[in-house]
Amino acid sequence: MATTATKKLAVLVSGSGTNLQSIIDAIEAKELDATIAVVISNTHDAFALTRAERHGIANQILSASAFSNRREYDAALVALLQQHEVDLVVLAGYMRILSDVMISAYPNAIINIHPALLPSFPGLHAQQQALDYGVRFSGCTIHFVDGGTDTGPIIQQAVVPVLQDDTVGTLSARIQKEEHRLYPQVLKLWLTGKLSISGRNVLIQP
Ligand code: GRF
Repeated sequence: MATTATKKLAVLVSGSGTNLQSIIDAIEAKELDATIAVVISNTHDAFALTRAERHGIANQILSASAFSNRREYDAALVALLQQHEVDLVVLAGYMRILSDVMISAYPNAIINIHPALLPSFPGLHAQQQALDYGVRFSGCTIHFVDGGTDTGPIIQQAVVPVLQDDTVGTLSARIQKEEHRLYPQVLKLWLTGKLSISGRNVLIQP
């Protein structure tokens, strides 16, 4: 009987890596059948790299300063991902826009998490945008990545209330709790072949 090989993830980060940690924890708890082949950061001081190190996961800094444009950077990124035989690219607080070089190398195999209910409040400072706008609910969105900023087909969302005395800090913490719950679940759907895309709609097999 043919066995299905465990799929390889790359997690791309720029910061503290709490979402990376939730994925590591889900794998270690055997809730997620995957391995993290490599963690790549575009910044030198991302705490996510320390998290990878602590769990014995290969990790690397790919600094944009060595490249003259986004496409060149992404070509080096694709080479690195191919070297690690990555199946799925997981963006977890990765603060760079991907060019067509990356998007075309991994069709329907790049997923991002955003701390707002898209299409509201894309881009930077999503929690501040939500507070400034005065919405009563916000949350997080996990979506496939296309060429735009937070515009790809939505896979899953979670909603949290926005409270009257919320600050960016308190709202972010409430959203992150949902992120850490939801991201491993969505990755499991991808890894088990339960997701398909029809136009803008993502279909989830029961
Ligand atoms: C998360 O809130 C995610 O939605 C956004 O960046 C943040 C990353 O946090 N894309 P962390 O580095 O995973 O702690």
